[in-house]
Amino acid sequence: MVRFSKSIIESAPYPFKKVNDIKAEYIKKGIKVIDLGVGDTSLSAPAGAVEALKKAAENPVNHHYNFYNGYPFFREAAAVWMERRHGVKLDPEKEITALIGTKEGLFRVSSAFIDTGDIAIVPGPAYPAVQSGIETAGGSAYFIPQRIENGFLPDLSKIPENIKNKAKYIYINYPNNPTTGTMNAEFAKELLSQAQKYDWAVISDMAYSEVYEDSRNISLLELPGAIERVIEFHSLSKTFSMTGFRIGFAAGAAGIISALVKIKAIRGSSVFQPVQAAGAYAMLNCDDYLVNMRYYYKNNRTLLKSIFSKNGIEYFDSGSTFYVWAKVPDGLTSMEFAALMIEKHGTVITPGSLLGNEGEGWFRACFACKTEDLIEFGGRLRL
Ligand SMILES: Cc1ncc(COP(=O)(O)O)c(C=O)c1O
Repeated sequence: MVRFSKSIIESAPYPFKKVNDIKAEYIKKGIKVIDLGVGDTSLSAPAGAVEALKKAAENPVNHHYNFYNGYPFFREAAAVWMERRHGVKLDPEKEITALIGTKEGLFRVSSAFIDTGDIAIVPGPAYPAVQSGIETAGGSAYFIPQRIENGFLPDLSKIPENIKNKAKYIYINYPNNPTTGTMNAEFAKELLSQAQKYDWAVISDMAYSEVYEDSRNISLLELPGAIERVIEFHSLSKTFSMTGFRIGFAAGAAGIISALVKIKAIRGSSVFQPVQAAGAYAMLNCDDYLVNMRYYYKNNRTLLKSIFSKNGIEYFDSGSTFYVWAKVPDGLTSMEFAALMIEKHGTVITPGSLLGNEGEGWFRACFACKTEDLIEFGGRLRL
């Protein structure tokens, strides 16, 4: 008998696996399932990015091991992007590294900071890989609630002093998955000043920064002094509908970037060069794509919200991300509601409790699917 590690035996399965398993069961029964659960999109990546990938893949020079922190051309494109989008000037050599997506970054950064028994502060509910990354490194996440009364921003003053002193870093994610909450300038300043006072690193996950309706999302790196302790993860997954490409970058404090690259070199791999070519192309050439993407999501968002309103479902929506965070009807847990949605309406949603205790009482619906699926969902909900 092979003997698996205690950690893999005791790990709970990745939460979204549960959702996928339920979906697979219904598809097997021949039922058309409408999937508002998964955080993926029905849009295609920019055509020019796909062409750049194809061209680079045809060149055998690109078929080999390459730089762990990414090719200079990719890091330079990321620096141009950061300056154009956020007015932040970065050194592409020292302050940027390519990543195989943010999920990779979250695991790498936790091993850069966390030893056994250490803690990191995480506003909850949260993207599950954050907690797994911290626990895999031997630490634990101290969750602070993000609640509707504060626009889903955490109240930093409520963190106990002993936790503030012990924490190695704080993870933040605005625009937020799942609540959609966004960061305002006042919160950003307060966060940075607490981080300076308690010597935290700040890990800011900007996976949804470009998915907004009207007002752009700010980067913490826009604040004076942030470059000393902040890194941001910028993913091309949601920005350019490139979820399968596996590409993003980390930007910010040179010391943290260097630690990430060290860990990547020891334990990880670099991003396939043609994928970097596609990512660089998108960042440098695809502003029109973003305009069209926002228009598409705006229509879908309006449609989903009107379906919820017609059916008496309350929701919160900041206008950013491609989710609506909605209240589970009274008397049901979020898991019970998810079961009812699939059994009665053939629709997958994400129960809030899969994203942590603070998510109970809520569910997440993703509207990045095809518009026709949302229309069909509206019809099914009325039955
Ligand atoms: C908050 C958040 N961070 C990171 C990711 C993963 O990003 P990537 O595809 O770049 O690994 C997701 C994906 O759903 C997410 O919701």
